[in-house]
Amino acid sequence: MPTTETAAPSLDLAYVRSQFPSLAQTVNGHPATFLDGPGGTQVPQRVIDAISDYLRRDNANTGGAYATSRHTDAMIAEARAAMADFLHCAADEIVFGPNMTTLTYAISRAIGREIRPGDEILVTRLDHDANVSPWLQVAEDRGVTVRWAEIHDEDCTLDMDDLASKINQNTKLVAVGYASNAVGTINPVKRIVELAHAAGALVYVDAVHYGPHGLIDVAALDCDFLACSTYKFFGPHMGVLFGKREHLKRFRPYKVRPNTNAIPNCWEWGTLNHECIAGITACVEYIADVGRALGGPRRDGRLGRPSSEARTSLSRRAAIEAAYAAFHEHENAMLEKMMAGLRQIPGLKIYGVTDPSRFHERCTTFAVRIEGHTPLELATKLGDRGFFTWDGNYYALNLTEHLEVEKSGGFLRIGLVHYNTLDDVDRLLAALREIAT
Ligand SMILES: Cc1ncc(COP(=O)(O)O)c(C=O)c1O
Repeated sequence: MPTTETAAPSLDLAYVRSQFPSLAQTVNGHPATFLDGPGGTQVPQRVIDAISDYLRRDNANTGGAYATSRHTDAMIAEARAAMADFLHCAADEIVFGPNMTTLTYAISRAIGREIRPGDEILVTRLDHDANVSPWLQVAEDRGVTVRWAEIHDEDCTLDMDDLASKINQNTKLVAVGYASNAVGTINPVKRIVELAHAAGALVYVDAVHYGPHGLIDVAALDCDFLACSTYKFFGPHMGVLFGKREHLKRFRPYKVRPNTNAIPNCWEWGTLNHECIAGITACVEYIADVGRALGGPRRDGRLGRPSSEARTSLSRRAAIEAAYAAFHEHENAMLEKMMAGLRQIPGLKIYGVTDPSRFHERCTTFAVRIEGHTPLELATKLGDRGFFTWDGNYYALNLTEHLEVEKSGGFLRIGLVHYNTLDDVDRLLAALREIAT
């Protein structure tokens, strides 16, 4: 959540929505309502333009002695700087890859080289499998113990006592998600980092689901690694990894011989998706522009427009912080409306935090089931009415198995991000009520 304590000026939703061309579509005469952000968000026009401009103008490999190759090198450096502002780290601590899963396999292989018998790895029941299986496979290869941090079943939050009790002097790595892509729980990652570091363990954070909802600050978290995917926060299909410089230098990547030994490139396998990297800068600039338009939180804590001088003097990081403060304010309003409405629907069960006094422990991702309907039936009926939701386990397989919903279709997942509206929530609730009854 935003680091600043002053109030957030409100989001200009008309401006926001005008940036995303796909939001204007219709399905069977209904407005297309994108409630599938957890599976991948829509992109602003400027991301589409950046990708096609790169392909039209500069499409080249890196490191060549000619103009378009030099432009490509410069473009990648710009994207690294943009992601460094987004995550709050240095540009040489940013590694690009095809997606979070691939990057996590790369890092887990390298860390695995240093894991010895007697060491332990801790994973959680709540995580997406991309932050579980790579570590289970390292443990299997190295013959070491895996410990599982369990959840409180009633609200799908991590059982922190259980987690703390399973970290000890043998723990080499704690793998934890920042937010659950299934039930929306936000985990106390900073506290987990403190516990792990006190025992001498590294922390690998999966921030894929947190990225669209909350400001990420790796400096404040002090985590060792953090992975995210730009397609979940309004950018192209790419993965991005933050690694502390000391770790990126110390661990030995699996890599081909001609690849450089210099960080961060030594962690990047083969030729990257240059056009998508061009889209990443545009995506970060979109978020920063939302913040610039707001001018950042006002120092006096009141809502309102800042002066144009205040707008232009904002650093990109400060602009990103301002944008997330406004995203949070708007998402919170949708969260309250959504939760109040879901509770009125007969036969509907909500998984995750439902108590409004604990809404800071969740984001706007809702996992529900309705008696007498499979999640697939619900998603299909909603889809026919123009509501894009998802059904199943979304790879949070350990959670759906643990809650015994895996064999009966998992959950229906409804995911709201900042470009959704209170009207989307009202219409979705009306459709769900109609389907449920
Ligand atoms: C929480 C979470 N972690 C990891 C992933 C995997 O990300 P990627 O598709 O970039 O590998 C996802 C994808 O849905 C996710 O939601």
